[in-house]
Amino acid sequence: MPSEPRPPALSAPKGVPDYAPPASAGFEHVRDTLQRAAARAGYGLVELPVFEDTALFARGVGESTDVVSKEMYTFTDRGERSVTLRPEGTAGVVRAVIEHGLDRAGLPVKLRYAGPFFRYERPQAGRYRQLQQVGVEAIGVDDPALDAEVIAVADEGFRALGLTGYRLEITSLGDAECRPAYAERLREFLAGLPLDEPTRARARLNPLRVLDDKRPEVRALLADAPLLKDHLSAASAEHHAAVLAHLDALGVAYVENPRMVRGLDYYTKTTFEFVHDGLGAQSGIGGGGHYDGLMATLGGQPLPGVGFGLGVDRTLLACGAEGVAPWSQARCEVFGVPLGQAATAELVTVAARLRRADVRVDLAYGGRGLKGAMKAADRSGARLALVLGERDLAAGTVGVKDLASGEQVSVALADVVDVVRDRLG
Ligand code: HAM
Repeated sequence: MPSEPRPPALSAPKGVPDYAPPASAGFEHVRDTLQRAAARAGYGLVELPVFEDTALFARGVGESTDVVSKEMYTFTDRGERSVTLRPEGTAGVVRAVIEHGLDRAGLPVKLRYAGPFFRYERPQAGRYRQLQQVGVEAIGVDDPALDAEVIAVADEGFRALGLTGYRLEITSLGDAECRPAYAERLREFLAGLPLDEPTRARARLNPLRVLDDKRPEVRALLADAPLLKDHLSAASAEHHAAVLAHLDALGVAYVENPRMVRGLDYYTKTTFEFVHDGLGAQSGIGGGGHYDGLMATLGGQPLPGVGFGLGVDRTLLACGAEGVAPWSQARCEVFGVPLGQAATAELVTVAARLRRADVRVDLAYGGRGLKGAMKAADRSGARLALVLGERDLAAGTVGVKDLASGEQVSVALADVVDVVRDRLG
């Protein structure tokens, strides 16, 4: 029969990473370790929609941000509604808290989430159009100790992975009392500088954003810019000092960065970023902060919140940069090598018994010979192989082979679960 021409192979959309075995073991470990740190502090899981009404992000994240104005994946669905793939998690969590009245029970409401987010950014190393975050939000209580807890949970997650080459940068973005006056002062300062028109436009929209300009010539012009930390309200200054005191007590190291500007508009008071030195330009492995107005902006009670989003992709890259890989890439612990159909039938049931005993087991399918099956066993990363031939089957035994040392012992089929569990320790 003439063979059909193959259609061209397809690839994933530009800027979207795939994680397949064995590398996905690292992804899973990073995500789960970061989440466990949050679960240990009492943050309950929320699973929220990956797309929401576009208005949620426009209102919640802020129209002046790049995230909303340039980077959203927005489309009209078949019912003529404008929906957007979530670019971040905080707005959706606050929407859900309000919608389900979660803030009517005990406060703070402490929630965690993990999953994909979408931003139409220019792809480069560590910057993707589908990015993965682990996040938390604690809503309903204005307490510097809670801000410090959120930061400490993130720090604990990174530390549990074995990371050391990162620093925590922190500042206060003030509150409704001091920010408008400061913004006016900064606007006046910026108006006196020879800035280009796009930068002037940014200054008009949100002058704080100009402080984040990376161009050396603009940085030089901004050397004497007024800084918010010198113009905080008494309440904000007190809150900030208390957060830092809690971090000191917790042994969480930080550096103050009064020029930090986050890409989202909802922050007030505590604002922070975790920066890793081994990652080049995309060095932010996590960030977050306190937000006083978001609940009210989205139609809820005027309650404050605080949270973080940690980048799983970048944290995995940071592990690579530091050479830490505290996870196993082995797909399974035990690999079955059946020689013949009857042996396959028997090993299938042995595998089921082992799996029920919480042992990870795979076996060679497709009637492979001994050599091919042993190769598959090695490739699987298993520590033990169960080799079953016709003679073993007749004797009711199975060969248990240590794949590192090559040593093999014969074990009664009836005892194999106990022996394997014992061997795996
Ligand atoms: P964010 O700083 O925009 O904050 O994102 C958090 C983290 O997600 C970043 O530090 C970075 O590690 C990762 N990330 C962001 N964009 C990309 C990208 N294009 N490619 C790879 N990784 C990326 C938020 O999203 C806030 N919702 C965090 C928060 C929660 N604030 C309060 N509560």
